[in-house]
Amino acid sequence: MHVFKRIAILQDFLETKRKQKCTIGFVPTMGALHEGHLALMRRAKSENDILVVSIFVNPIQFNNPDDLLRYPRTIENDSKLLETVLCDAVFVPSVEEIYPVPETTIYNFGAIEQVMEGAFRKGHFNGVAIVVRKLFEIVKPNKAYFGEKDFQQRAIIQKMVENYAIPTEIISCEIVREPDGLAMSSRNMRLNETERTIAPQIFKTLKKAVLKKQELSPELMREYVEKQFKKIDAFNVEYVEIADEKHLQPIKTWHETKHARIFVALQLGNVRLIDNIRIF
Ligand code: PAJ
Repeated sequence: MHVFKRIAILQDFLETKRKQKCTIGFVPTMGALHEGHLALMRRAKSENDILVVSIFVNPIQFNNPDDLLRYPRTIENDSKLLETVLCDAVFVPSVEEIYPVPETTIYNFGAIEQVMEGAFRKGHFNGVAIVVRKLFEIVKPNKAYFGEKDFQQRAIIQKMVENYAIPTEIISCEIVREPDGLAMSSRNMRLNETERTIAPQIFKTLKKAVLKKQELSPELMREYVEKQFKKIDAFNVEYVEIADEKHLQPIKTWHETKHARIFVALQLGNVRLIDNIRIF
């Protein structure tokens, strides 16, 4: 596996690969890798000639400075895991390499970024869009892989490639879960023992709610989920939304959409967790 810290050197390597007619699969990450990330990478490796991964904790997508400070950094273990998925090149730039001058770009993706994560984490998606576009310009991947764990992020990146005619195909990958149902996340390692035993209640509640789709309207389902979470003292609910999968707008009736999902964000101790599930 080749390790690159500098943009120019990575670009030279990728240019040679492109001349050899290699297709490039790309998985952008912030490190602290787990099975969720590795599933994206295995798929990228199997669908392309080479696999490129980036590890960059992007400061401008953190709306909360403490969250940035506490974000886990496990580069040695990450390198070992990357070897297991036969990663060809890993890009680990410094903040100065990515942002030689302060960023001023402001994107507007419309209604899709004004709900849920966009509403609760101001500036978050602008920071994500800036770094992902920059990484796409550096790597020029044929395909890039994003997890449905961050469903709204994937939708915004999809919109970005359409709006700016970026020649990269966005591939959406299902959520990978722990055996007890907890969606895998780099942040899970910050849960203490008690919190870790409570966390699986998130997915259990979502699954129970989906079983009630015949008897509940979207609003009643939203209330049901919120009520279940409020029974658990340790949870501090940020939002529960029932939304259309395409536009991510809340729905009032089931007839409004072909595919709907429940989306949740909550605090457990000082760890922020998100999850979602398809209703139909
Ligand atoms: P990060 O949180 O490291 O996630 C990298 C990719 O892994 C994202 O596409 C995310 O959705 C996916 N992922 C994380 N946990 C997953 C799980 N349990 N199942 C499936 N996929 C999962 O998302 C980011 O980094 C950043 O915002 C980034 C796109 C790299 C831009 O900085």
